[in-house]
Amino acid sequence: MGPYVWITYKHRSGPSTAPKCWHSRKLWGFIIIIALVLLLFGVLVTFFFTAWVNLIIDNQITLRDGSQVFNLWRKPPVHPVMQIYVYNVTNADEFLNHGVKPVLEELGPFTYVETWEKVNLTFNDNGTVTFQQQKIFRFDPDRSVGSEDDMVVVPNIPMLSATSQSKHAARFLRLAMASIMDILKIKPFVEVTVGQLLWGYEDPLLKLAKDVVPKEQKLPYEEFGLMYGKNGTAKDIVTVFTGAGDITRYGLVDTFNGKTHMSHWTTEKCNRVMGSDGSIFPPHISKEDTIYIYDKDICRLLPLIFQKEVITDGGVPGYRFTPPLDVFSDIEHNPENECFCPSGPPCAPHGLFNVSLCQYDSPVMLSFPHFYLADPKLIEAVEGISPPEAEKHELFIDIQPTMGTSLRARARIQINLAVSQVVDIKQVATFPDIVFPIMWFEDGIDGLPTEVTNLMNIATTIPPVARAALLHALFITGALLLVLAVFCLVRNSGRQETLSLEGTAHFATNDEKNKKMKTQNGHSNGKALETRTNPAFMDDNTS
Ligand SMILES: *[C@@H]1O[C@H](CO)[C@@H](O)[C@H](O)[C@H]1NC(C)=O
Ligand SMILES: *[C@@H]1O[C@H](CO)[C@@H](O)[C@H](O)[C@H]1NC(C)=O
Ligand SMILES: *[C@@H]1O[C@H](CO)[C@@H](O)[C@H](O)[C@H]1NC(C)=O
Ligand SMILES: *[C@@H]1O[C@H](CO)[C@@H](O)[C@H](O)[C@H]1NC(C)=O
Ligand SMILES: *[C@@H]1O[C@H](CO)[C@@H](O)[C@H](O)[C@H]1NC(C)=O
Repeated sequence: MGPYVWITYKHRSGPSTAPKCWHSRKLWGFIIIIALVLLLFGVLVTFFFTAWVNLIIDNQITLRDGSQVFNLWRKPPVHPVMQIYVYNVTNADEFLNHGVKPVLEELGPFTYVETWEKVNLTFNDNGTVTFQQQKIFRFDPDRSVGSEDDMVVVPNIPMLSATSQSKHAARFLRLAMASIMDILKIKPFVEVTVGQLLWGYEDPLLKLAKDVVPKEQKLPYEEFGLMYGKNGTAKDIVTVFTGAGDITRYGLVDTFNGKTHMSHWTTEKCNRVMGSDGSIFPPHISKEDTIYIYDKDICRLLPLIFQKEVITDGGVPGYRFTPPLDVFSDIEHNPENECFCPSGPPCAPHGLFNVSLCQYDSPVMLSFPHFYLADPKLIEAVEGISPPEAEKHELFIDIQPTMGTSLRARARIQINLAVSQVVDIKQVATFPDIVFPIMWFEDGIDGLPTEVTNLMNIATTIPPVARAALLHALFITGALLLVLAVFCLVRNSGRQETLSLEGTAHFATNDEKNKKMKTQNGHSNGKALETRTNPAFMDDNTS
């Protein structure tokens, strides 16, 4: 073998067309191995690159003390905005005395800029973190229509709650209630400022209840306000999963005030609190996923399903998730809602969600604003509410699906009071059975800071590009090397076969017919060099 390699090497230095092939099998074998390794890496990248990147992302987003994501989560660099619309009743007297429909005037928005921070944080050993949520609301006059001091006329919620609840009580209790309300001069509508309606005003009935009612049944406060006690640090102790150990529960509530389930509803599934607070979700969300939000005031997990792809601020693409259209449907339209009707039937009308059990038995019903997706009878029972529009009234969250981060959100909910007529109480005797809209709000964020969206863009656009580039590099280089190596091996082996056949012939004849061979050499054109330099024939040539 050795001599031939040497010979062919010499031959290469002569005038040659075609790619130059080193005539070393070892070398080409080595190159084939490299090519195969490159191709193998290509295959690995094809199948596992995304999984590797996901592992890195999962590791990066896990909530760990001091990490960047943790700090963003603990104290978001955005200011969510709460916009509140109040339904002012403009014909309270006619409504009560002449049985006409209530005429409502939608006032607002009254805009509050929020600052969120999670306080009293403790990391637990089991991949969870415990905290209390702090939310500070500041009125923003520039983005509001009207001021907090505007006077509005709204149903007297504490009173109507009490009377509606007394419907099934003993008659003498209702009569007693009527006398008390007489003495305290309580009326079915109150005139208060927007600020009072939201943040609290002293209510004579609640004050009385505080003094009279046995301690354990006591309402937690003597003021009434739709947002009462929400400005500041919530008392609720929340434990959420950090993603350490199990990324599929990332950001979901483990326990709320120490409990993994509520006790209001009839099934385990409906009592669960394992949802997101709306800021972060388990990553790698697909369009088929149902994601869940838990909010104490909604009193249940709110499911969200994929609606469409959107582009949010900063050019970050996201998935829009909204509640399924039948989320607040009545049982005929959505039998799954049966669990939310523990004392029914009758259950809540179509499109309303009865949160009475979460609101100290007040007959509070939630819906989407303007009774979006609800029974049209509800909006027809009042005057002054424009027909619902998905664009203005649906609830949605735009999510970056790879990381599970909320990019833009609008939590839109309307608060209604389901009043029951109670004829024994003269003050409300003419107040008919009605679902009375009180106000609606939209709580949301428009976008994340540029630094965060830039990072997100990098983290989500680079990996696919890198993967494509890497795949191209590996497969093209690998394939080229392989083709080249095989080509050269085939070419060389072809030539070496010829040579080796000739060589054998030379060897064979070497000892026997020197002379004849010399003639052959002379005639074998082009092979003169090889034969001459072949050590086997050195003696002949030098002689
Ligand atoms: C609300 O309605 C009442 C009439 O019931 C009216 O006096 C009052 O000015 C209205 N408030 C606003 C802010 O328009
Ligand atoms: C932390 O919790 C304690 C009681 O456990 C409470 O007194 C304190 O106000 C909380 N800190 C903050 C910042 O809310
Ligand atoms: C994790 O630990 C916390 C604090 O000890 C506890 O409240 C919570 O229930 C635990 N969660 C799980 C899933 O074990
Ligand atoms: C909420 O509390 C902060 C101080 O903690 C205060 O400055 C702000 O005015 C309050 N907001 C409302 C709407 O009362
Ligand atoms: C709302 O729920 C409460 C508690 O389960 C129930 O007593 C009440 O009748 C319900 N209201 C309606 C209108 O279904």
